[in-house]
Amino acid sequence: MKVLVTGGLGFIGSHTVVKLIENKFDVVIIDNLFNSKLVVLDRIEKITGIRPVFYQFDVQNKEKLREVFIKEKPEAIIHFAGYKAVGESVAKPLMYYQNNLESTFALLDCMAEFNVKNLVFSSSATVYGLPDKVPLTEDSPVKSATSPYGETKVMIERILTDICAVNKDYNVALLRYFNPIGAHKSGLLGEDPNGIPNNLLPYINRVATGQLKELNVFGDDYDTPDGTGVRDYIHVVDLAEGHVLALKKLATNSGLVIYNLGTGKGTSVLEVVHAYEKATGIKIPYIIKERRPGDVPENYAGTDKARKELGFKCKFNVEDACLDGYNFQKAENERNGK
Ligand code: WQD
Repeated sequence: MKVLVTGGLGFIGSHTVVKLIENKFDVVIIDNLFNSKLVVLDRIEKITGIRPVFYQFDVQNKEKLREVFIKEKPEAIIHFAGYKAVGESVAKPLMYYQNNLESTFALLDCMAEFNVKNLVFSSSATVYGLPDKVPLTEDSPVKSATSPYGETKVMIERILTDICAVNKDYNVALLRYFNPIGAHKSGLLGEDPNGIPNNLLPYINRVATGQLKELNVFGDDYDTPDGTGVRDYIHVVDLAEGHVLALKKLATNSGLVIYNLGTGKGTSVLEVVHAYEKATGIKIPYIIKERRPGDVPENYAGTDKARKELGFKCKFNVEDACLDGYNFQKAENERNGK
């Protein structure tokens, strides 16, 4: 089966492309390299022995998108392409709404024109907003998100839900990611954001490799076991596997399906620090700071539905992800002469 992957050279996209190739799917990637690098295509080929077909343009460009649908005739789509920095979205809301929604509209128009019915959408646990209770299940209320970025996910989920309500032959999977971390065991794929990382693990990776002095722990006065924020950290390779399972589910004419992709376990910031130190043998100095505005105290996934309906089960834990993330950062620094 031929799958079109938008944003396929990004952090989660590239790991998913590797998994798709390993599962004998034919992969076509569209990526505008806004938040990814062309060298990732070489690395996917190095890992799998197969070089996916690649087009470099913005998914909002409908004329180019139509040409790809005509030429490649995809049978399913995985849609990762979109801006995803929470803080930036607060500062630049129009940029986020325009990009994330317009790219989705262009894709949906082409799917309708070329009769493509199967779509996996990269959504986020952020659609649950400030949880009333944890673990969060797929029946937990979707709320107005805490950022324009999160709001684009809420809106696109709603658009896809309404489309499926009138097009019974559409099969759409809304995958709500919790906190993706880690990297590919080869050290060739991982997350190395430009500038100072906002997210916890990329920041710790920079501390571990000497690029940053210490970790700022944003608050230790939450109502959690050690006072620091609790999240559900899922290894990116497990997350990629979840996409392959969702694609196979759509092939059974499932209609609209919604799944949390998480480990089902909450881990605090300080527990992550200790896991990182245990996995790598490297001391991670930290300093307690004020809470970060917009952070929720605790957030982790209910995983029964994905396990029962997809057979989804995480193979890796936080320590595995810490070691894989560190190894990637070290290798990337060496490749970049840092
Ligand atoms: C995790 C924990 C922080 C950095 C975000 C997006 C979410 C999703 C995943 C896209 C929190 C603490 C962090 C630091 C810290 N992205 N922290 N020091 O905010 O849970 O989720 O990324 O879908 O949409 O909101 O992830 O890694 O930023 O924070 O103490 O330098 O680590 O307070 O408790 P978050 P995060």
